[in-house]
Amino acid sequence: MEYIAHRGASAYAPENTLDAFELALSMGMSSLELDIQLSADGELVVHHDLDLKRTAGADVKIADCGYAGLLRYDVAAHFPGAKRPQRIPTLAQALALVGGRGFVNVEIKNDRGIYAGIEHKLLEVLRTCGNGWPRRAAVSSFYHPSLETVRRLDPEIKIGVLASSSVSIGDAVALAVRLRAESVNINARRFTPEAARAAHSRGLKMLLYTVNDRRRARELESMGADGIFTNNPDICQDGWNKTGGTDD
Ligand code: G3P
Ligand code: CA
Repeated sequence: MEYIAHRGASAYAPENTLDAFELALSMGMSSLELDIQLSADGELVVHHDLDLKRTAGADVKIADCGYAGLLRYDVAAHFPGAKRPQRIPTLAQALALVGGRGFVNVEIKNDRGIYAGIEHKLLEVLRTCGNGWPRRAAVSSFYHPSLETVRRLDPEIKIGVLASSSVSIGDAVALAVRLRAESVNINARRFTPEAARAAHSRGLKMLLYTVNDRRRARELESMGADGIFTNNPDICQDGWNKTGGTDD
């Protein structure tokens, strides 16, 4: 089974920061997940929420702030025991840090299409960052028009169709087939062996988020899951002896 460090090793370092990505790699992970958005001046930045309230305690929307302005905030402020302040990284910085060491699942946050042109910028960054990035990345999104655009712009890139609870497994599989995607990605809580069979019968993988408990991960694997996104990368390493966290 594939284990993907969700927002980096986000149980142990502030999510979606360079520290979280470096820690995940140092824990032996070769796959990372991160979220991207566009700043007001068109920089692709790595952050999950549309604003900085939760991470930095600042009522600032990413879409309304230029990148230089975003750099004023410490996005590690929410994280107990953070080693040091962290600035919101650009996608290019995150890819440069990973270098040739890993595979990255890039989730486009683009609800209601708020970030016009984000797909084009993503492919541009992947193509100009070296290290063979387009072929060592997968693009995922709950906002399916973004995935349609990505496929139109790049016939080869790996795609994961993220399906929220409002999208049936059947519809997600059908879209994934149409987009020639690699996987359907769903919340682990709605996973069933039938869902796995529906994906597998069309040559698709099924990836589950977010699983932070070692036993649960093994159970899901035995039920047919192909991979999990986890905040606790140590759950896949027998040599580590930490307790897995709570699933969310
Ligand atoms: O890509 C899996 C997972 O990251 C999707 O949910 O809210 O954590 O971005 P979220
Ligand atoms: Ca995500």
